[in-house]
Amino acid sequence: MPQRQRYLFVCTNQRAEDHPKRSCATRGAVEVQRLLKDQLKARGLATLGARACQSSCLDQCSSGVTILVEPDHFFYGRVTVEDVPEIVEALANGTRVERLVLTAGDLARG
Ligand code: FES
Repeated sequence: MPQRQRYLFVCTNQRAEDHPKRSCATRGAVEVQRLLKDQLKARGLATLGARACQSSCLDQCSSGVTILVEPDHFFYGRVTVEDVPEIVEALANGTRVERLVLTAGDLARG
């Protein structure tokens, strides 16, 4: 397969429901990743534009569901399935969804 322009690493780490740090999987990350994959394909971006991969913990648990976008090197946080169409649209346009981009303060909290 050719190298894509972007890779979206969706944290799908799973911890117990009562774990104090919670986890992205318990906030719906698996569904977010699946939907991203489907919508990238439907939009014709899956072959060359972007690939949505599952990832282990990205150390941004307090902002989950988190997605690391490479090579742009920024995080989306607090992502829900409702945000996926907007994320795909931004990828198609070469932009990003600013309201979901984690700030320096978010990153410092981890
Ligand atoms: S569990 Fe998803 S960033 Fe840690």
